[in-house]
Amino acid sequence: MSAIRVMPELLVSQIAAGEVVERPASVLKELLENSLDAGATEIQVTLDAGGAKRVQVDDDGGGIAQDELGLALARHATSKIGSLEDLEAVATMGFRGEALASIAAVARVELVSRARDAAHAWSVGAEGGAARAARPAARAPGTTVSVSDLYFNTPARRKFLRTESTEFGHCDEAFRRIALARPDAAFTLKHNGRVSAHLKPQSLQERAAALLGAEFGAASVAVDAHGGPLHLHGLAGTPQAARNRADAQYFYVNGRFVRDRLLAHAVREAYRDTLHGERQPAFVLFLELDPRGVDVNVHPAKTEVRFRDARGMHQFVFHALQRALAPSAADAPVSYASVSAPGPAIQAALAMHEPVMAYRPAPAALPAAHKAPPLGYALAQLHGVYILAQNESGLVLVDMHAAHERILMEKMKLGLVAGAIERQRLLVPAVFRAEALDVATAEENREALEKLGLELSVAGPNELAVRAAPALLAGGDLPALARALLAELREFGAAQVLAARQNELLATLACHAAVRANRQLSMPEMNALLREMEETERSGSCNHGRPTWYQLTLGDLDKLFLRGR
Ligand SMILES: Nc1ncnc2c1ncn2[C@@H]1O[C@H](COP(=O)(O)OP(=O)(O)OP(=O)(O)O)[C@@H](O)[C@H]1O
Ligand SMILES: [Mg+2]
Repeated sequence: MSAIRVMPELLVSQIAAGEVVERPASVLKELLENSLDAGATEIQVTLDAGGAKRVQVDDDGGGIAQDELGLALARHATSKIGSLEDLEAVATMGFRGEALASIAAVARVELVSRARDAAHAWSVGAEGGAARAARPAARAPGTTVSVSDLYFNTPARRKFLRTESTEFGHCDEAFRRIALARPDAAFTLKHNGRVSAHLKPQSLQERAAALLGAEFGAASVAVDAHGGPLHLHGLAGTPQAARNRADAQYFYVNGRFVRDRLLAHAVREAYRDTLHGERQPAFVLFLELDPRGVDVNVHPAKTEVRFRDARGMHQFVFHALQRALAPSAADAPVSYASVSAPGPAIQAALAMHEPVMAYRPAPAALPAAHKAPPLGYALAQLHGVYILAQNESGLVLVDMHAAHERILMEKMKLGLVAGAIERQRLLVPAVFRAEALDVATAEENREALEKLGLELSVAGPNELAVRAAPALLAGGDLPALARALLAELREFGAAQVLAARQNELLATLACHAAVRANRQLSMPEMNALLREMEETERSGSCNHGRPTWYQLTLGDLDKLFLRGR
């Protein structure tokens, strides 16, 4: 081994760059954060060859004074903090004074900047860490940082760059993360000379729709919850906005995009009741708290954070989000077409919390508007699948199986929480064929089954009998229900099934017991279902996340028939 030596500055920076500058997208992220820290409100991004050839960011921020330009590229030089206290209370994105120096160690950097009160701009350049002296340049107030030929001097790193389109994809994502967090600022993104995004200052709703798609804009609820010094706000996609991939999940802590397991868990739990199976929620959420309550200095790319009160944070986020997602049917109108979002009048009519009226025989005319229940009164059943109802704003279409399923599930859940799912003994036990393994499972899990309201007994070596079932489900296909339950118990064990998998289980049970298609419902039955939907939390979507009802307003119908044009 050779003697211990202090490393040259360039090597130190190149090693640091390994952590900060993973790929072109990390350069873009650092430059964008610097622009926002400088108070920019209009930012232009120019990329060439996925960013590998060039990443350039132009801003209209405060700029850098001539005598500080050289320092901006130096290691451990920052204008943002000066002490440990500052670090603990940091409100800017940057604080290490390391990003530009790291980038300059592995790329060619050109910095042109003009402070607000300066007569003209100045430019400095650096190549492989060696800076050249500042010289005058022309530019409006603000800063341009241009980073070209990433890894030109570290060929080993260059080999890790992927195809142009992959690198552009990462840059696009870095851009999106920042643009979503700052809808008040204008952004442009250009790749290989083509504009791929152009965003004016706008509301969060508009920004989210522009970047995540109109469906998300139409199918998300606003979140705005305070809890002491904590504030959670933003947009949470409803189940209708859920995706197959987790590619629209944006969580920010004090304006910084983070990937945090604790927060991810809180969000997943909050969505658990409304999203079944593999569907991934879409959301853009901002958690605001005193910077002293969170350590942002735990990860080189600053995408991880550590909370002082992790448990409290989890609880707050979980409850705030769950509450936002759990309005009853009356609060969550699903409009017929996303292009025709329901007008304020409809929203207001549907949002009222009326005491639910007992069913009255379907009236010839609708009762006075202010007394009409939100989902109205049934008119007919369509092909044994849908209920058609008339409410104040027009026609309501209900998927009766999906709606009933949700109602059953929510009721069972309440029963289980109260420790007593109401049981009903069967006059004639429902006997069904069962594998030896099922029989054994039934015997081993007698207690768990009873908690769930099911009493099974062995009727023969290959036969089980349902002797009692949850009262709510007694009309369903009990053998199918018992089989599904046994399969769950066998696979996951009683403890799991009663705790972690409880909602999946209840969803399965509810599905087996809910009214099947092609069952003729009477008018009173249909109206009773509508009233129950109004009273049930989360009844806007079924246990699998599909919508349970749609509103077709008179306006929607007029449009269909091209009336009034
Ligand atoms: N676009 C910009 N406008 C104005 N000043 C800038 C801009 N970019 C960089 N600076 C100045 O250069 C300094 C160094 O930037 P750099 O990104 O290297 O460090 P930092 O932002 O302070 O910390 P971090 O390493 O955490 O990003 C900043 O503190 C800031 O004063
Ligand atoms: Mg920075």
